[in-house]
Amino acid sequence: RTLRIGLIPGDGIGREVIPAGRRILEALPASLGLKFSFVDLEAGWQTFQNTGAALPEKTVDTLKAECDGALFGAVSSPTTPTKGYSSPIVALRKRLDLYANVRPVKSVAPTPAFPDPIDLVIVRENTEDLYVKEEKTYDTPNGKVAEAIKRISERASFRIAKMAGEIAVRRQNVRNTTGDAVGKQAMVTITHKSNVLSQTDGLFRQAARAALEAPQFKNAGVKIDEQIVDSMVYKLFREPSTYDVVVAPNLYGDILSDGAAALVGSLGLVPSANVGDGFAIGEPCHGSAPDIQGKGIANPIATLRSVALMLEFLEQEEAAALIYKAVDGNLAEGKLLSPDMGGKATTDQVTEDVIRRL
Ligand code: NAI
Ligand code: MG
Repeated sequence: RTLRIGLIPGDGIGREVIPAGRRILEALPASLGLKFSFVDLEAGWQTFQNTGAALPEKTVDTLKAECDGALFGAVSSPTTPTKGYSSPIVALRKRLDLYANVRPVKSVAPTPAFPDPIDLVIVRENTEDLYVKEEKTYDTPNGKVAEAIKRISERASFRIAKMAGEIAVRRQNVRNTTGDAVGKQAMVTITHKSNVLSQTDGLFRQAARAALEAPQFKNAGVKIDEQIVDSMVYKLFREPSTYDVVVAPNLYGDILSDGAAALVGSLGLVPSANVGDGFAIGEPCHGSAPDIQGKGIANPIATLRSVALMLEFLEQEEAAALIYKAVDGNLAEGKLLSPDMGGKATTDQVTEDVIRRL
């Protein structure tokens, strides 16, 4: 089978790490029976300056018409509001209905603060909540007032929780085959603030529970857990190892997933995927890192893990597992690490070491 992958490097170190992502796909063992073809696509700040569009129509059309999945590097954003510019990744999520943002957070080694391994996934709803951006400002006798709509639908809440349940089952299956399952309970934690926002977050909670009560999850032993978002933050930073899969509406998910990335050291390690039905874009969590761009020292691991995550959602779990394992091997040995991890290795050297371990 040949998978066609769109490559959207974007700006800054996106242009240095996306080639690493391509290399690892090309290096997967032939025994998997998988082939890849690639198409280079434009988006980002540089593209905006060249063409007047941060996300050219050609990029969207090619992804829709030709591609099975894609890799997105990072884009720089202008520091002041710029007429005509809006974030291409936000637009892509909308245009391709990539309704979930999935962010695994996994520790490299035990630390004094977190002696137990951290291995959790945050599944963030990506289409609604306060991010529908329906805001207005008006004058009152007491000064200006601004308002924003928080929209929660049963459909979006149900489908995001269903995806969280599917991820929990898949992780459980992986743990069972690798023997890491001991003492781990497949669990989805629904995060909300329904004690205060009883209608919006109340609906999210109710729809998420309904999705997770389905027999496919019950029979697989997925436990339904829930947590109010503020206490969730506290517990996530006190006892991160107790979590498995966390599902949250858009705003809480955004905050939780950036925060959780801080639990495992460098931003250069944390992957994500934007997922819809039948399409996935892998995307490292970091930005375009102008402070290190052009030096060849960007950590490629967030991207390599994003490649694996994309493959999982394209139902290529075996290939994904090989990449995760090779990355873990590189980190566990700790000899070829990039500067953000305290090492001296270049982007290419880290990539080559991971490829050698495939
Ligand atoms: P950043 O993630 O680009 O950098 C933060 C710090 O982490 C920097 O010191 C950087 O050198 C380091 N870092 C990030 N990725 C690394 C990697 N792979 N290896 C080694 N070190 C790494 O965030 P910052 O500086 O706030 O933003 C820079 C630009 O990126 C801005 O224009 C911002 O708008 C954009 N950005 C884009 C994102 C995206 O495309 N999804 C996400 C975050 C920021
Ligand atoms: Mg964020």
